[in-house]
Amino acid sequence: MNTHNTAALEAISICKSYENEPIIEDICVKIKKGELVSLLGVSGIGKTTLFHILSGLENPDSGTVKIYGETVTGHSGKVSYMQQKDLLLPFETILNNVCMPLFLKGTSKKNAYKQASLHFEEFGLSGCENKYPSQLSGGMRQRASLLRAYLFSDQIMLLDEPFSALDAITKTTMHRWFSNIISAHRTSTLFITHDIDEAIVLSDRIYIMSGVPGKITHELLMNSQNRCNPEFNTTKEFLEIKRDILQKINS
Ligand SMILES: Nc1ncnc2c1ncn2[C@@H]1O[C@H](COP(=O)(O)OP(=O)(O)OP(=O)(O)O)[C@@H](O)[C@H]1O
Ligand SMILES: [Mg+2]
Repeated sequence: MNTHNTAALEAISICKSYENEPIIEDICVKIKKGELVSLLGVSGIGKTTLFHILSGLENPDSGTVKIYGETVTGHSGKVSYMQQKDLLLPFETILNNVCMPLFLKGTSKKNAYKQASLHFEEFGLSGCENKYPSQLSGGMRQRASLLRAYLFSDQIMLLDEPFSALDAITKTTMHRWFSNIISAHRTSTLFITHDIDEAIVLSDRIYIMSGVPGKITHELLMNSQNRCNPEFNTTKEFLEIKRDILQKINS
């Protein structure tokens, strides 16, 4: 199959109810190869529910999930998924934690360690290999969690609020670091955030969910020439984009 023009990840008309209560309805999203796309919406709108479906952890009531054109609805293990909580195992070292997806795939301990060790420096975790999660800062734990997701697959990543635990200054550093990694590896990424500034600065595109049940109501292309400017978030252009997004989230 020619994968050049096919979406890396596509959801078509996804609907899901819990206890007869419709949560999300007719959701369509598409992530192209190498694209970084964010999903914004108020708490409880159904963002994590959508991620459970995209990752195959849950089945939708109706609709289809495709990866490079192949239907994978309800099949887990096809994309890497960093869940809303970091879910690091407290009694395992960081090295064992990040290698977990490789162990589960049947990679030997020696090869998993070798593969993971190549990335500790890039993920800002040098020297943390034999530490335990409780010995790391929140930012380090989130990076370990990202590395674990990345080792599962560097092709398509679903990240549920990957930087939520960080203060504004650490966040800015993490954003720079993260977009360098993602663009160097051309990873296709969909991430959930409540932080509108983060969505504007990082994303190529933004999906906005609103309503009950939750639907994708807007899609915005972030193509400003000024995005690489470190002071972009103090410009009039940035504030206008932010105001527009706020209105759309609440509409
Ligand atoms: N397994 C479940 N059983 C029943 N209801 C559920 C289940 N999972 C989620 N819900 C409900 O679905 C709705 C959407 O939840 P979801 O976690 O997807 O929201 P969210 O947009 O990710 O919110 P947040 O931004 O707070 O993380 C909520 O009303 C929640 O209570
Ligand atoms: Mg959520």
